[in-house]
Amino acid sequence: MIRVLFVCLGNICRSPMAEGVFGNLVEQAGLQDQISTDSAGTSGWHNGSPPDRRGQATMLTNGIDISAQQSRQTRASDFTGFDYIMAMDQQNLSDLRTACPPELHKKIFLMLDFAPDQPTRQVPDPYYGADDGFQTVLALLNQSAKGLLDHIRQNDLAA
Ligand code: 4NP
Repeated sequence: MIRVLFVCLGNICRSPMAEGVFGNLVEQAGLQDQISTDSAGTSGWHNGSPPDRRGQATMLTNGIDISAQQSRQTRASDFTGFDYIMAMDQQNLSDLRTACPPELHKKIFLMLDFAPDQPTRQVPDPYYGADDGFQTVLALLNQSAKGLLDHIRQNDLAA
């Protein structure tokens, strides 16, 4: 099993959406028994909360229900338990690297590393912005989630 963790600051906007988008691709590909997903926040500010209503609504327009997810903070065991740890922005990346033992840093990626055609390197935090920020997030996640799944298929699931 390949285990993928999506990480943002609050684990109520970007990383729950990333988990939803990527999980949907995994299901469509019939790979649920080979790839598992989770998400977490570098902060515990929203521990136990469901995803932001605006993110839930944006995901539902794409037919993906993320309402059952619950926010949690990243923990030390994530660095040993997951194979891919996907940071949404540079601050998440930096915070993860600080918390992660150096020999496991190779597991940590920037989500948009898997959307090489996309000039933006970071998934912007939509929390304090207008609703259309969530559409921007979804578009970036759709691109990068596809790239990530292709990468895993080629590097980890090769027959
Ligand atoms: P996220 O967005 O990191 O994409 O979940 C945020 C959610 C909450 C806060 C900041 C960002 N906050 O400051 O509470």
